[in-house]
Formats: sequence, C-alpha cells, structure tokens
Amino acid sequence: MEAELARLAATAVDEIAAATSEAALEDIRVRYLGRKGSLNAILRGLGTLAPEARPAMGARANAVKEEITAALDAKTAALAAAALADSLARDRLDVTLPGRARPRGHLHPLRRVEDEIVDIFVSMGFTVFDGPEIDDDWHNFGSLNFPPDHPARDAQDTFFVAGEPDVLLRTHTSAMQSRILRAAATGTAVDGRTLALPLRAVVPGAVYRKDDLDPTHSPMFHQVEVFMVDERVSFADLKGTLAAFARRLFGERTRVRFRASFFPFTEPSAEVDVSCMRCPNAPEAPDAGCRVCKGTGWLEILGAGMIHPQVLRDGGLDPERVRGFAFGLGVERVAMLTLEIDDLRLFYEGDLRFLAQF
Ligand code: DAH
Repeated sequence: MEAELARLAATAVDEIAAATSEAALEDIRVRYLGRKGSLNAILRGLGTLAPEARPAMGARANAVKEEITAALDAKTAALAAAALADSLARDRLDVTLPGRARPRGHLHPLRRVEDEIVDIFVSMGFTVFDGPEIDDDWHNFGSLNFPPDHPARDAQDTFFVAGEPDVLLRTHTSAMQSRILRAAATGTAVDGRTLALPLRAVVPGAVYRKDDLDPTHSPMFHQVEVFMVDERVSFADLKGTLAAFARRLFGERTRVRFRASFFPFTEPSAEVDVSCMRCPNAPEAPDAGCRVCKGTGWLEILGAGMIHPQVLRDGGLDPERVRGFAFGLGVERVAMLTLEIDDLRLFYEGDLRFLAQF
C-alpha cells in the first residue's frame, strides 16, 4: 500500500505539472482526491491491514493528499500568473501612437446667419419666440388684415393641409404676431413666457410657399420677424433699430434707405434697402460691375412698417393707446448676400464640398 501511495503521488504530481488549464487541474483533483478518486480507492484497503499498521498508513495517505493539494494550488496560481502576463503582453496599449482625428461638424451656414441676426436683436432686449409651422388662416392671414380675396390666400400660393381648408403651412413668421400681441394684452403666456408691454419680439423660423425650386426660390425658406409694441413707439424707433441692426450685421459704414410700399398688416409700409457691403464706396459711388448690387449700390433686404391699427385691435390692444413697428427679413436672402452665393439650392443639398467652406 505504501508503494501504491508513492506511485499515486508521483503520477499526480507529473500530471499536474503537465496540465495547461484550470479545467485540466480540476479534472485531476476529481480523479485523485474526489470521493470516487484513486486515493479513496487505496484507503478502502486500510481495513485489510493489521490494526497497528493502520495509523501510520493513514498518516501517509494524508501526507499524499496534502502533497497533491499543494501541487494543485501552486499550479493554479502559476496558470493565473501566466494568463495575466500573457494578457499584459498581448493587450499592450501604445499610448505614444498618434490618435485618429474625427472630422468635426459645424452649424449649417443658414443656421449661423439666423443665429447672428437673432443675437443682434437679443442684445437689444428682444425676446425670442418659436411658433408652429402648421398654422391656420386666422393667424397667418386674417389677424394680419389680409382681405378675404387676397391672392396669398389662394391654393396657388400657399400650401393647405389636404381636406382642411383652414389649416396651412405658414407663409411668414408674421403669423406669430397676433398670438404674441394677445398674450401681452392679457398677461398670459405664449411659448412658455408671460408677457406684458413693452413688447419686443423676434420670431425666427421656417416658412412655406408654393414656389418651384430654382436659384432664387424655394418652397421652404426661413424668416425672422421682429416687432415692438409700447405706448410711444414711432417710425423713428423703427428706423433707428434697423440702422443699428444693419450696421451690426453688414458693417459699420452700412446705410439704410426706406422706400414706400404696401403690406396689409402695416401702415405706413416700407421696403428697406441697405448699402452694398461689397462696394467700398456704396451707395454714392458703387462699382459698376459689382456682382452683388449689380452696380446700383443698394440691396433690398426686408419689409417693414408701423403695425396696422386693425392688427393691434385683433391682438386685443387699443391702437389709441399703443403703437408698434414690425419688420420681417429672409435668412436665405441675407446669407446669399453676405456669403456671396447666387444659387439658393446649395443651402438645401447637403453637399459637404459646399457646406465645409463655412
Ligand atoms: N411677412 C412679410 C413677408 O413674408 C415680411 C414683412 C413685411 C414682415 C413687413 C413685417 C412687415 O413684419 O412689417 O413678405
């Protein structure tokens, strides 16, 4: 039995030395030390020994068990250390390698120009309002004093929602005027803000008209509507606001010019021009061949006027007590002028060769 135990210890230790995985070690442990393992098989023979020989042989069996257990533990630790060393060697990270630069995007040029316009008015104390692009006849036309037979109300000019004669895609951001006026008149909230006079609002956003896409037209474009209402607002305030705005947007030497015009929602109404920002001596001595102003020295940029009394009334305000000015400008128009782009479609095509230039 002594010799059997010695042989068992020797083969177990050899097998442990040769094992290359934790699973193999577990298999060895079960085969030698498990309940049905080789060591127990030998120990079952203890009963055949003389009683005085049994304690010594039992002690010998325990020593063998400890020897095998120690060998298993040592080998387990060695395998774990080898695995760690291997992973450290294989997964080594070279922190000195140059990184891979990810291309970085930026705002769309139209968004930039819109932000620039809005920021100028915010710095003058105006509040920004958002509004619905799907609106109704009253907000887009009726409350702005459009007569019932005005051509803009025709399906030729405006997108109506199918089957809903009163629901349309707004044709201008002026459609927010009556909501904001009414909120100020009643001290209620619009677009999350409670309003009171004096009212200074700037409303940027997308608008829609039934135009075919060509270099200067698009069925969707962007406008910024700006208006102010208070007890003593005059045409001089409109002029001063526009002159300050034009100087900030187009440069210090920019001049503004008003030409009499007509809009149903303003009286009097004006078309406003700015002196050409590309001609060094505009407006007095424009470059005859200027691509931007075509040699005229002036560029038409917006429509403006004093808010019509009927619009104030429909907004719940008393035109005998308060007055206001309003104007609206196209973001694409300003972007085309300042970025010198002559085809509006470039803004909508998403071509990175174009967009990456700004
Ligand atoms: N809503 C006009 C348009 O879309 C622009 C405009 C003109 C707005 C005069 C105004 C204004 O507030 O006073 O063509």
